[in-house]
Amino acid sequence: MCKRVQFKQHMSTYHLKSLEEYFVNYRKSISKPEVFWGEIAEEHFLWRKPWTSVCEWDFDKPEIKWFQGAQLNITENCIDRHLLTRGEQTAIIFEPNDPQESAVHITYNQLHEKVCKLANVLKDQGVKKGDRVCIYMPMIPELAYAVLACARIGAIHSVVFAGFSSTALATRINDCSCSIVVTSDGSYRGQKTLDLKAIVDEALQQCPSIKSVLVAKRTENPVHMETGRDHWLAPLMEKAVSDCKPEIMDAEDPLFILYTSGSTGKPKGMLHSCGGYMVYTAYTFKNVFQYKNGDVYWCTADIGWITGHSYIVYGPLANGATTLMFEGVPSYPDYDRFWEVVAKHGVNQFYTAPTAIRALAKESLEHTKKHDLSSLKVLGTVGEPINEEAWHWYNDNIGDKNCPIVDTWWQTETGGILISPIPFLTPTKPTYATLPLPGIRPVLMDETGSPIENNSAQGRLCIAQPWPSIARSIWGDHQRYKDTYFSAFPGYYFTGDGALRDEVGYYRITGRVDDVIIVSGHNLGTAPIEDAINEHPAVAESAIVGFPHDVKGNALYGYVILKETGADRNTENLKKEINQIITEHIGPIAKLDKIQFTPGLPKTRSGKIMRRILRKIAHNELDNLGDTSTLLNPDIVEHLIENRL
Ligand code: PRX
Repeated sequence: MCKRVQFKQHMSTYHLKSLEEYFVNYRKSISKPEVFWGEIAEEHFLWRKPWTSVCEWDFDKPEIKWFQGAQLNITENCIDRHLLTRGEQTAIIFEPNDPQESAVHITYNQLHEKVCKLANVLKDQGVKKGDRVCIYMPMIPELAYAVLACARIGAIHSVVFAGFSSTALATRINDCSCSIVVTSDGSYRGQKTLDLKAIVDEALQQCPSIKSVLVAKRTENPVHMETGRDHWLAPLMEKAVSDCKPEIMDAEDPLFILYTSGSTGKPKGMLHSCGGYMVYTAYTFKNVFQYKNGDVYWCTADIGWITGHSYIVYGPLANGATTLMFEGVPSYPDYDRFWEVVAKHGVNQFYTAPTAIRALAKESLEHTKKHDLSSLKVLGTVGEPINEEAWHWYNDNIGDKNCPIVDTWWQTETGGILISPIPFLTPTKPTYATLPLPGIRPVLMDETGSPIENNSAQGRLCIAQPWPSIARSIWGDHQRYKDTYFSAFPGYYFTGDGALRDEVGYYRITGRVDDVIIVSGHNLGTAPIEDAINEHPAVAESAIVGFPHDVKGNALYGYVILKETGADRNTENLKKEINQIITEHIGPIAKLDKIQFTPGLPKTRSGKIMRRILRKIAHNELDNLGDTSTLLNPDIVEHLIENRL
């Protein structure tokens, strides 16, 4: 629909098929990003109106705009345009928690109908373009319908992972003033059933902006339905009209908000917009997984995280792919569940987290051998650094040394994968995310804030120019967006990660350099956890650090100072209570593995906690604690070491 650009003979390649093609496209994407992305966007997507400029950006303000002036609806690209060619092809395979329950195959035609119906239900509830819709659901098809229904009518979805507590849910609802919640009566997770509706009810006591709640039925457990506010979803969908005209959106209109932990304070509502996000997630999905028509692709993430947004829903559907949604957990009914599902559905691309690989690698190899995994072509990992042992276990036992592993590095903020091998093209190297994808210019910064030019170097990872799916802001707090990502190294996007670049230019992400700790692939900020602990009446102060854990990657170690009146309490009970408070404020994912009670914390003379020392003690690295003499209270270090856990 857009005006044709010149250089037809050198059109940018949507589907990269050789390493040479990758290098040619990479160079073009860096030297002429507007031409590169303009061609990709024009050729492969459905626009209602062309853009007037491909990209305008200023990292100082910061302000980033892609495909300005263009209009589209992402659901037309993810659903409608496939109906003529593949209406009867499966769009989503739903694999339930219980293997005895049949899987459900949802075709593109059916997806269209469901999404339109749910979009009409939302409209009937008064939801309009720009309104925020909170989605708090298990991994059931209605979750995907709800996300897409919002996009259909231009409402901004804010999916909150259904493992978060009522307090965390309320914080997220209030931060962006959602008017409606879509949830379910409950959720199945392995042997457990969670009462999601009760969590919503509790949260809503603190959420005045919510006018209505739509409830999908899943577990059939009895729930409270508030008259006038709560409605069962199924009967409303039943009655709703099965077509819904897509709202025409500007490319820069918001598509969704997704909260991620910061190193300080409340979670950050990362704001993503329609056009650039669509182009980048679709392009990276196609290349990083080398998806071909007819393949079955499975990402084990939850749609409550960015991985699920970009690589279960939008990226795959924009390519007309078949994407699998799994409701359960890797250990139920047994540790072979993933492999059973791979064999059952003939999965070709499998994408999971290192923490899951490590957990499964601890179990007997009989679990993998029981199933035919020969359909697999590409294996992916995401969310945290993958250690060498896990990489080899995955390569040997799941890929049979025959499936390239794509170690994909990216973030909630980046919207899509930035650094990753392209399978069959880029030679892989264990623990390395390898090379930047087209459009991505990584830079390593040294201690003084200057870019490091040479290879074989280590530094802080920044990105020098924008790519289409970079988050545009933090909801309601643009200053925080600037401070967090564009202030440490002016003129660059700062990722918060450290990385090293080897002699050939491959990148290996070494981990966070701020106070975010990645536990089982989940980003956790230390500040909100400390705030939660400090709510305990017996606690005076606390500090959290991470320490290595062989399955979770990192686990949390808490140093807790008790108030004088608290010091006489039973410490085992206190530990339980502290973890209970964390569960209530954040969720069970943020529980502490170790809690050390201490009379003090090492502090600088200005009162700042020296986390470096606490980290070393938790890591049991006691040889080189650095200079402690400048501390306000140097004696406390000895005490902490003697009583370490
Ligand atoms: O530290 C990096 C780590 O996860 C962080 C982003 O977390 P989140 O926003 O929750 O998104 C996770 C899913 C994209 C990054 O700053 N991380 C992510 N992928 C990798 C990684 N660390 C090492 N290797 C990876 N492949």
